[in-house]
Amino acid sequence: MKKTIIFLIFVFTFQFGFAQFEANYDENKIPDFELPDPLTTFKGKKVNNAKKWEKKRRPELLKFFTQNVYGEVPEKLNIASFKVIEESNDAINGKATRKQVELSFKKNDLKLDFTILIYLPKSVENAPIFTGYNFFGNHTVSNDVNVIISDAWARNNESLGIINNQLTEQSRGVRDNRWAIEKMIDSGYGLATIYYCEIDADMDDFADGIHPFFYDKNQTQPGSAEWGSISAWSWGLSRAMDYFEKDSGIDESKVILFGHSRLGKTSLWAGATDQRFAAVISNDSGCGGAALSKRKIGETVGRINNSFPHWFCRNFRAYNNNEKALPVDQHQLLALIAPRPVYVASAEEDKWADPHGEFLSAFYATPVYQLYGKEGIPSIEMPEVNQPIQNTVSYHIRTGKHDVTDFDWEQYIKWADQFVK
Ligand code: GCU
Repeated sequence: MKKTIIFLIFVFTFQFGFAQFEANYDENKIPDFELPDPLTTFKGKKVNNAKKWEKKRRPELLKFFTQNVYGEVPEKLNIASFKVIEESNDAINGKATRKQVELSFKKNDLKLDFTILIYLPKSVENAPIFTGYNFFGNHTVSNDVNVIISDAWARNNESLGIINNQLTEQSRGVRDNRWAIEKMIDSGYGLATIYYCEIDADMDDFADGIHPFFYDKNQTQPGSAEWGSISAWSWGLSRAMDYFEKDSGIDESKVILFGHSRLGKTSLWAGATDQRFAAVISNDSGCGGAALSKRKIGETVGRINNSFPHWFCRNFRAYNNNEKALPVDQHQLLALIAPRPVYVASAEEDKWADPHGEFLSAFYATPVYQLYGKEGIPSIEMPEVNQPIQNTVSYHIRTGKHDVTDFDWEQYIKWADQFVK
């Protein structure tokens, strides 16, 4: 008897535990859920014009996402100084200028620097730019030998030559396939990119990066409503924007945020919190990015908070396996960007990021854009693969994997020509 009970407990625990970790990819197994209406306030009031949206609904949504999803930035901190550490008039086959600008931040005895790599087309005086973080260092985005290798922490990766958490020459240019720089330059756009771990190392540890700048004595991690890493990285993008406003080569009214995957989540949050950004591109951002959480398909809130406990604020954990209780969903994050253009892109094989949920998010954000007379996603039917819908709210699903491809960049440039330039 005793043995049977122990056996049953074992089977139950195993099954339950396993079920928790198995991702669902079946649309038929999506739990019933009601998607919160972007145009009805938490108190049930209808919002029918842009003024009410801006005065009532947008602020309450922004506040909820700030305190319960990504986390508050504790205090303001301006750039202490910046320095152009390298520049050239002869980059990208002579068509662009290159500049590497180091921004420095100081508080008490703490210091943090990050370097923005900037390419600008020589053919344009005051260039619109794409901007966003890279995963493995500025030197990986092109084969340009003059790009400085960051000495910030990096996750070890033998095939990329990352040893002892340090980036090396071996990875120069390894991600040039993800950054169509020459296409951008030829189309009259610049690029500004930063290695994201210079702002905060991507590990479950709040001892380094920007977080400790605001700790009280003996504090070792942010408060439960305070910023996780995504919010810290998006803070870094806003500080880069502070710099862009000072650079006469850049048109600061035409800065388009771009981000892939976790860095797509970051760009969406930066676009929602900082209205100086002209437009946002989310490439395969998935859970905690463009994908609807309540669908619980692919990666879920519980799963992401377990695997990456440092990305969101601690309050977000209240929704682990409890998405039903969320009074918001990610279509409202997209709506926070309105009326500025937003582009959500998915990849057919990227089931983990829930392409259908990313599409629906763009569709359900559309009513907010319509308050401004802007066109979004006209139908709930997903477009065919490689058939972009390009409006102020845009969407495409391309063939292939979780990645950034030339196809993606061709669409982003075409769209930016129409809605940003
Ligand atoms: C993991 C994570 C995703 C994230 C991705 C990435 O797959 O689960 O949420 O988007 O990493 O950033 O590459």
